[in-house]
Amino acid sequence: MHVRLAERTLDISPFYVMELLHRAKQLEAQGKDVIHMEIGEPDFATPQTIVAAGVRHLQSGEVKYTPAAGLPELREKIAAFYRQRYGVSVSPQRIFVTPGASGAFLLAFGVSLNPNEELLMADPCYPCNRNFVTLFGGKTNSIAVDADSRYQLTARLIKQHWTPATKGALIASPSNPTGTLIEPEELRRCIQAVNALGGCFYSDEIYHGLVYGEQATTALAVSDDVFVVNSFSKYFGMTGWRIGWLIVPDEFVEATEKLAQNIFIATATLSQYAALAAFDESTGVELESRRAEFAARRDFLYQHLLRLGFEIPIKPEGAFYIYARCDKFTDDSFKFAADFLEAEGVAITPGKDFGSIGAHQMLRFAYTTSIAKMAIAVQRLERFINRG
Ligand SMILES: Cc1ncc(COP(=O)(O)O)c(C=O)c1O
Repeated sequence: MHVRLAERTLDISPFYVMELLHRAKQLEAQGKDVIHMEIGEPDFATPQTIVAAGVRHLQSGEVKYTPAAGLPELREKIAAFYRQRYGVSVSPQRIFVTPGASGAFLLAFGVSLNPNEELLMADPCYPCNRNFVTLFGGKTNSIAVDADSRYQLTARLIKQHWTPATKGALIASPSNPTGTLIEPEELRRCIQAVNALGGCFYSDEIYHGLVYGEQATTALAVSDDVFVVNSFSKYFGMTGWRIGWLIVPDEFVEATEKLAQNIFIATATLSQYAALAAFDESTGVELESRRAEFAARRDFLYQHLLRLGFEIPIKPEGAFYIYARCDKFTDDSFKFAADFLEAEGVAITPGKDFGSIGAHQMLRFAYTTSIAKMAIAVQRLERFINRG
């Protein structure tokens, strides 16, 4: 039986939180009130301006394939977004509309990674990116990072861990699960180090819209020789529409186009027309008020987790996660999360979904739910901890 299953599937890790989600659904079906703080998905609906643009296109009935790289108008709008937001000029030719950041990574690794080549990534990090490397026969060298480097890779770590098998390095800023940003100077040094070593640099910028202090720096402000991944999922509230984008260095444009034609044909047409409204001024006003709400949620949750005795070495600056050390209460965060769900009906994510180093003492709390619900979750957490 075993032989029929591709070996690579054995090296791809499941999302452990799915077990908890499954259990949460069972509890809900039994009538229990469950508060969801495990899911990396905004609780806000897609802005109506975006929905309306999608509906208008749907009603035309012309829901045909688009060019593989995406609607030319959308690629232009994304290029304009880089000019306005970051003061960076990117040719629309280098921009590919993709089925989410996930589709962007499939293309980026598909055009740049050979079997057995290795990528440097931080531990902890978002697990799917690691699994995509495995899918292409590559290897991940996960480097332990901590609060000293804001849970980000540094140029020093990249140089120290670089071997003849290394193809490149990937950073995600703000990071999932820690919400921390790489400092602009460190980003510059990392990109310069990778460029000097002749490797590929991948920057996962999916949470760039959701920062609560300093604006995040795009890798494109440092160099054109980078892969930049972004998405309409999180800031733009379009998770289920499955649409994002990838920006590639010039020399990869042709190969990326070829791969996109073959793997996806194109990203969903409906979603692309809807996303045309994502950069409208009125959409922006709504998205910015959501960002302010996320900032307030972060402050609320951060303060209460500290009060309860969780350790959070750096206050997260973006995304919608707090990665907290829970060793005061347990040395098995998966069991803690499972028991907490069972006893109190609050779902959170165990550290082992994001890495292996010290992960059993970490929990990720997503503030993708209202302050009112989080206030109840905090009370339940306090009761659970005090019960011992
Ligand atoms: C860091 C990071 N990158 C990429 C993704 C994939 O996002 P999507 O495919 O929905 O755009 C996620 C989703 O949670 C993420 O957290």
